[in-house]
Amino acid sequence: MTSVINAVLDAELLRRGIYFPISIDLKKPHLAVFGSSGSGKTYASQLLLAKAVLNSAKLVVADFKGDLEFSFLAKQEHFYRFERVGLFFDFVSDTLLKNRQSGQDKSKSLIICFIDEMSAYFTMLEKKERDIRIRQLSRILMLGRSFNIHVWISQQRPDAEYFGKSRENIHNILLLGSFSKEVLNMLLSDDKDVVNRRQSRGKGYLISSGEATKEIVVPIYNIAKVQSKILEGMYKSSEAVDSE
Ligand SMILES: Nc1ncnc2c1ncn2[C@@H]1O[C@H](COP(=O)(O)OP(=O)(O)O)[C@@H](O)[C@H]1O
Ligand SMILES: [Mg+2]
Repeated sequence: MTSVINAVLDAELLRRGIYFPISIDLKKPHLAVFGSSGSGKTYASQLLLAKAVLNSAKLVVADFKGDLEFSFLAKQEHFYRFERVGLFFDFVSDTLLKNRQSGQDKSKSLIICFIDEMSAYFTMLEKKERDIRIRQLSRILMLGRSFNIHVWISQQRPDAEYFGKSRENIHNILLLGSFSKEVLNMLLSDDKDVVNRRQSRGKGYLISSGEATKEIVVPIYNIAKVQSKILEGMYKSSEAVDSE
């Protein structure tokens, strides 16, 4: 099995009528999807998550805004919404990661921990809890690579505020829709002259460390199929003991 997922299309080739996928390497830890509201972050994230499940990833999901898009996961043990999002950080940092660190969980199978609208969640917290969550997040970002526990984050703005220094551990960034000059300078300073800041919904750039930035399009897909794949890939505590 390869470790790449082919979920997004090359925008330049698509303009010439050629459907050519651009690979995202699942070996490179962590991914962030940035874009204003309505730019297609949740839509893109669900496609990426389903593709990751096809590559045998297990999923833990949090959705702070609790929009309808993730209601199909409502009964899942490791789906966290609204005020339960804090438990997502507890579970990933203090259970999944700790169990692999201590050797209690010897498997190295890929677990992807996705959080939709993360900065909206952080903004809402009181300082004391926010500091705890930020510490848990940076632990996962820093140690996740060694233990094959990756974080996928979706949020509107790419500010470093909640990542601190650990943002350099995020090796894949998907930027969707239109973005400001500030964001251009922050994420695409090397490509300033070739980048178009006015992108429509579902279009943007893939910035992967060690690779040239690519202009991409998120294709339209069958939502029911994608969501049933995500459901199938949800992490279940009862399976943890028998996993390889
Ligand atoms: N690539 C796309 N192709 C077609 N429709 C899309 C695409 N991306 C998003 N949409 C639609 O646009 C709307 C907003 O997308 P959404 O992912 O909810 O945005 P965000 O999470 O950034 O606020 C949704 O109704 C979604 O189905
Ligand atoms: Mg969304």
